[in-house]
Amino acid sequence: MLGAVALAAQQPAAPAAAPAAGPGLDLINERCGFCHTTNQVFTAHKTAAEWPALVQSMIDRGAELSPEEQKVMSDYLVANLATDKKAGATGH
Ligand code: HEC
Repeated sequence: MLGAVALAAQQPAAPAAAPAAGPGLDLINERCGFCHTTNQVFTAHKTAAEWPALVQSMIDRGAELSPEEQKVMSDYLVANLATDKKAGATGH
């Protein structure tokens, strides 16, 4: 009984990499967590060329983003999460 209560009280684990704050991040948290967790976004390994296409494909699947929001999010993802743009990455 007590064990179950302790388990239920546990906080979900933090994402592997802490995403940078910004309007793009707010949009991701608002619009990209319906069909899968936003962790799916933050742990995806996409290049600067792949992110805008990925965002478009999620819109095709049903993600709700205006053209302006799509641009904000794509710019954010390219700037912060593109595998070929991350500064200081080791092991490449
Ligand atoms: C309508 C449902 C839906 C919404 C909303 C949605 N997704 Fe997805 N997403 C999916 C599905 C389904 C998959 C798995 C498809 C696959 O693996 O091909 C997926 C997979 C992904 C992947 C992994 C793809 C890969 O190639 O590794 C990423 C990254 C992703 N989504 C990002 C986003 C982002 C960013 C948003 C917000 C704009 C978003 N998703 C909103 C349905 C959705």
